[in-house]
This record gives sequence, C-alpha cells and structure tokens, in this order.
Amino acid sequence: MGKLPNMTQTDIALSVGRIPRVGLGTWQLRGSSAYEAVTAALDIGYRHIDTAAMYRNEAEIGRGLADSGLGREQVFLTTKIQAERFADARSTLEGSLSALGVDSVDLWLAHWPPSDVVGAWQAMRGLRDNGLTRAIGVSNFSPSQIDQLIAATGEPPAVNQIRWSPSDFDRPRLEHSRSVGVVLEGYSAFKSGALREPVVVGIARSLGRTPAQVVLRWHIEHDVVVIPKSSHRERLASNFDVFDFRLSPDEVARIDALAHR
Ligand SMILES: NC(=O)c1ccc[n+]([C@@H]2O[C@H](COP(=O)([O-])OP(=O)(O)OC[C@H]3O[C@@H](n4cnc5c(N)ncnc54)[C@H](OP(=O)(O)O)[C@@H]3O)[C@@H](O)[C@H]2O)c1
Repeated sequence: MGKLPNMTQTDIALSVGRIPRVGLGTWQLRGSSAYEAVTAALDIGYRHIDTAAMYRNEAEIGRGLADSGLGREQVFLTTKIQAERFADARSTLEGSLSALGVDSVDLWLAHWPPSDVVGAWQAMRGLRDNGLTRAIGVSNFSPSQIDQLIAATGEPPAVNQIRWSPSDFDRPRLEHSRSVGVVLEGYSAFKSGALREPVVVGIARSLGRTPAQVVLRWHIEHDVVVIPKSSHRERLASNFDVFDFRLSPDEVARIDALAHR
C-alpha cells in the first residue's frame, strides 16, 4: 500500500484517556542505559514509556522524564506491580510513584496473575479511585481470568499486556479482548525470530523498510499497542518511524499465517 505522508502517531482510546500505539519498553535497561534510552526516546518523539517495579529502573526513567522538559501530561507512563506484592499494593504503587517522581501514572498493571485475581483487581480499583493511577490493567492474564474480573466487578481491565509477535498471533484472543473492551498490548515483538522470517524480510524489502518496522506496523494494523525496547538511538528512531506507511490486508494475512505453521 502507498505512503501516508501526513499521518502522525495515533493513539487508542482506553476506558480513561488514550494510549499511544508505540511506547518504549525498558525491561533490562538499568542505570545510565535506562536514563539514556528514555532521554533519546522522548527526544525522538516517543510519548509512552513502559516500566515495572520489578525492572528497578523507575528512578532513572523519572529522571529522564524530568530532564526532558516535557510536561507530565505529555507522556503516558505505565508501571506494574508484581503478583506477590498485592498484600502491600498501596505502598508498592506509592514506591513506584516516588521513584518515578510523579503523583500518578497513566496505567498500572498487575504484572502477572496473583492467586486471588479478583481480590487484586479490587485493590487496584480502590487505588485508581484514590487517584494514584488514571487507568488500571493486567498483564499475562488469560481470557478466562479477564472474564473472572468482569464477572466479579463489571469492570474490564483497560489493557492486557501479553507476549505478542507474528508467531504468537492468536485471532480468538484478539477477538475476545476486543469483545470485552480490553486493549491488547504486545511485548517481546522481536523475540520470537520474527526479524529473520523470510515473509517479514520479503515484505520489508518490497516496502524499503526494515523487518522490525514491518513487525511493529503489523501490530498497528491489528490495533495492538507495542513497546519495543532498544538501547541504541538509531534503532529507537527507526522503531518509531512506522506511521507513514501501511501493510496491505494481504501482507497482514501472510504475517498472521506465521503462527499456524
Ligand atoms: N509484562 C511482561 O511480563 C513483560 C515481559 C517482557 C517484556 N515486557 C515489556 O515489553 C518490552 C519489550 O519486550 P522485550 O524487551 O522483551 O523485547 P523486544 O522489544 O521485542 O526486543 C528487544 C530486543 O530487540 C533488539 N532490537 C530492538 N530494536 C531492534 C531493531 N530495530 N532491529 C533489531 N533488533 C532490535 C534489542 O536490542 P538492543 O537493545 O541492543 O537494540 C533487544 O535485544 C520490555 O522492554 C518491557 O517493557 C513486559
């Protein structure tokens, strides 16, 4: 398909607010490399950063955000709570906010399902209602766990962050999320060998793009939010340069089919 010259980065509506479709992943970025990646990403134009209490980089991310000169409301911030920390949910979230140097985050996720998923969800809803986070969501939850939360409270998570790449493509999962009002956010887009897949490499060559850009654009075509991580400025820039081209329905279908071989 052709170029879309004036298309800027778009975002997706959540139950509260909007989430930019491409964010910076920060797992395994520690210390100065976390600070440098955030600084570079914000300079390039990223307005969405994904971290977690477990990543131990919230302070560096907060410093990068403060030094960027951007207003707090200009950057969508996600952090996560480990499943085993739900007994101290409030102090865990307050610790994240203090490290990040902010009064609230935009999205707070349960990093993976705790044994009492409904109890955890109720605790998250309470802290959201107290203004410590704008939206709440989950990560690594199955469709049936999401159904449990909705059955118990009537409220779906704003987001489910799960592993998602061409080889993980799962249409029923996508359709379940959509039908219950959950935005899917994919992690580890590059980690299942997608960048070496001949189908992806061939499409990239025909479009004059990189395989990474094709994989990221494939997420966008499916309305799946994506959070690539890189510690290299040139990769951060090219991973963000995915808003001026599209994949055709046939190209999307050929990438989807990589999951079913
Ligand atoms: N909720 C969860 O349980 C969970 C689990 C895993 C990850 N996550 C989140 O999702 C984010 C992304 O996932 P991820 O970090 O596992 O994997 P990823 O973003 O799919 O892949 C990162 C790897 O790809 C390389 N890379 C980045 N851009 C590239 C490019 N244009 N061309 C070639 N290689 C490139 C990076 O190397 P360089 O750094 O050397 O460029 C790094 O080795 C994480 O950072 C984290 O925020 C969440």
